Amino acid sequence: MNPAITVSVTGAAGQIGYALLFRIASGAMFGPDQPVNLRLIEIEPGMKALEGTVMEIEDGAFPLVQHITATSDLNEGFNGSNWALLVGSVPRKAGMERADLLGINGKIFIGQGQAIANNAAADIRTLVVGNPCNTNAFIAKESAKEIPSDRFFAMTRLDENRAKSQLAKKAGVHVSDVTRMTIWGNHSATQYPDFANALIKGKPVEAVINDRPWLENEFISTVQQRGAAIIQARGASSAASAANSVVDTVASLVNPTPEGDWNSVAVCSKGDYGIDEGLIASMPIRTTDGKSWEVVPGLELDEFAEAKKEASVQELREEKVAVSGLLPV
Ligand code: NAD
Ligand code: LMR
Repeated sequence: MNPAITVSVTGAAGQIGYALLFRIASGAMFGPDQPVNLRLIEIEPGMKALEGTVMEIEDGAFPLVQHITATSDLNEGFNGSNWALLVGSVPRKAGMERADLLGINGKIFIGQGQAIANNAAADIRTLVVGNPCNTNAFIAKESAKEIPSDRFFAMTRLDENRAKSQLAKKAGVHVSDVTRMTIWGNHSATQYPDFANALIKGKPVEAVINDRPWLENEFISTVQQRGAAIIQARGASSAASAANSVVDTVASLVNPTPEGDWNSVAVCSKGDYGIDEGLIASMPIRTTDGKSWEVVPGLELDEFAEAKKEASVQELREEKVAVSGLLPV
């Protein structure tokens, strides 16, 4: 057994929290040999429900769970944290875009960024799930300048998984046959799921799905609008699939990426693929050591793909301008 790591989760009593905590506790995120201390963070009105969730984690008798802390104090919640999973925030309702939440949720990530910088372990990595997650991660990063910017992530793995599932259904193959699936840009209705660089059973997607109009239209818009479709159908935003993608994202960052493949996560751009330095944008990411990551170089984007990616990056630029007044100077 390894020494325990500390995982902080905000919004721990929410829908995603309820689907996520038990997966962390069971070892799905960090593996069967990695004990965890859970630091669960809620706002005051959520503390009662969090008490119930803590009782249920205790009742799970998980061998890997060492300590559980439930708190509304950010300093206590991020104390010694190795991973901060920032889920807590308001979800959108039908008819809203995720960016409509910036005014409501954006400010949460200033205090959380600062508390992470002041209290977390030296190797802290932060994944933002709360929407609009790219720009919230940007706010957290800008509020925690002491922490290297390559330790901030925003979740686009759910979009990657959705895209793989749509391609697999169309091609009549298993979802695991779809690899190299990049989501470019923002976790929003402008994101670009890059079918041209993805593979199905090792072949280019277009060699298997010979239907460019479907790929350019129905496929892209289904992935872009999947979150809204779930809200319409369920009356609440995706939760179990989102929690599953949090598990996938972290597991992919702490384990070497399988040879020849990559995954999507929004990271702090160093100017890669013409994306402005400092924006938190989704790209193809690999890791060889489970600690550092690299952007997969050399992907070709034709005129269609370049325009789609650029539209999503432009939206991120606009969101950055919209929150500039919030940021610490
Ligand atoms: P929810 O309303 O069920 O739960 C959110 C929880 O966060 C609540 O318990 C609330 O009390 C808590 N909270 C609110 N402000 C907080 C704060 N400042 N500190 C700590 N906790 C706080 O919502 P949910 O369904 O769990 O969704 C959470 C967020 O995740 C939403 O913003 C949603 O849009 C987003 N989301 C993102 C993705 C993605 O792919 N990136 C997918 C699904 C949902
Ligand atoms: C999703 O993609 O399901 C989430 O971001 C929730 C939403 O508002 O769409």
